[in-house]
Amino acid sequence: MTDTVARALDAVPLRVTDPEKIPAERYYDPQFFELERKHLWPRVWQMACRLEEIPEVGDYVEYSILDKSVIVVRGKGGVRAFHNACSHRGVRLANGPGNCAKKGFVCPFHGWRFNAEGECTFVFGKHIFSEAMLNAAETDLVPVRCEEWAGCAFINFDNEAPPLLDCLGPIVTRLNARHVDRLKMDWWFGTLLPTNWKLAMEAFQEGYHVMRTHPQLEALSPPGFSRLGPDADAPPPAETITPRDLVNLNIDFLKSVGDGMAGMVHHTEVAVLEKLRDMDVPDDPQAAIMAFYARAQEEVTKDGLARGAPMFDIAKVNAENEFHDVEFMFPHFFLLPSLAAMSSYRIRPLTAETCFFEIWSLVLRPEGEVYETPSEPTILPYDSRDFPEIPQQDYSNLPIQQLGLHNFKHMRLSHEWEGLISNYHRLVDGFLAGLDRETLRKAENTVNSGYNSPIRDIGF
Ligand code: FES
Repeated sequence: MTDTVARALDAVPLRVTDPEKIPAERYYDPQFFELERKHLWPRVWQMACRLEEIPEVGDYVEYSILDKSVIVVRGKGGVRAFHNACSHRGVRLANGPGNCAKKGFVCPFHGWRFNAEGECTFVFGKHIFSEAMLNAAETDLVPVRCEEWAGCAFINFDNEAPPLLDCLGPIVTRLNARHVDRLKMDWWFGTLLPTNWKLAMEAFQEGYHVMRTHPQLEALSPPGFSRLGPDADAPPPAETITPRDLVNLNIDFLKSVGDGMAGMVHHTEVAVLEKLRDMDVPDDPQAAIMAFYARAQEEVTKDGLARGAPMFDIAKVNAENEFHDVEFMFPHFFLLPSLAAMSSYRIRPLTAETCFFEIWSLVLRPEGEVYETPSEPTILPYDSRDFPEIPQQDYSNLPIQQLGLHNFKHMRLSHEWEGLISNYHRLVDGFLAGLDRETLRKAENTVNSGYNSPIRDIGF
């Protein structure tokens, strides 16, 4: 690390100085939240919408992040993004999703109009303005950078930022192999959580919590296969477990994940797995599990192809790429692969101690299948029983963790299993310190990884 970088980082209040310790005030201090607002969010690529929200020319959505609002719109030449402010006197033009193909965006104040390309198409009473006020540079909407990947539009307010894929890094290759751009929404939920946005993300960045937070999953983990050992009050493991029992436990586990997430392992995949309970299994337990997963991947692939879904060869892709159940993309987007289906999360800050959490269930849907694409998330209270069981369990911890942090100095992280939390916090510090673009890009490539990642050297 150069002296200049070290000095810039030292100037960041509440910065992470020991990678295994995260200062608690980072989760509630209003000044720290303000620094993030000023120096982080205006400089990062943000998943702004799924492209299936805007399938037709003229379809648009509003993406908001703190005090900023952006229109993401499908124009004739592709998907574009614009600051959501009328060029006359700044009135917000879009509120939520819609279609502007017929009339464009019509400002409710004095009636100026704009098309899907951001061009100003009508000024009421033109003759009362001086010419200099009415050239296109003055009247067209102000563009925001917009790039596409994984079936989503991403925006960035920073014209100097490297391209999206350069920032995302190697994660792109392994998710592209899973046909991530072909995934379609099954459902979309949102909730307001009484926690800092970072805290909400961290509940999904490590698997260490599964034992206590998701006991139904832990109960289906084959004995002797966890590196962490049993819970303090767990019953003693069964004396003997046969290779067939192990296969059935794994099917039960995947079904429980599918039920608990209402997706991730999609019900069409669970139906395929159920047929494998009678498969021939080798006598060796480890070989039995490997044989089960090989067959499960093969059968789910075949089933998807037979139904006309844009499948990939799951076994081949898993053999050729790193696999992680949870993939994190800085600063606030997640994809959670399993077999072919995925879940996805996006977490946005609202205030220092509240955030908006969205979950999607995504599936490789057969071509031509009729379904209703949600145009907005179904908003539920965070403690609603209508959430699938697993998010319900995760959400239940977060408000009490936020409260606990006010009586607490710093988190102590497992360097082996909770490293992603440390890695991304130190990248936040890099943004707050104003480090150069290339240093931040390289760090982002390292930070973007699966859950249970170790603490890594991110270059500063
Ligand atoms: Fe939009 Fe005046 S503020 S037309």
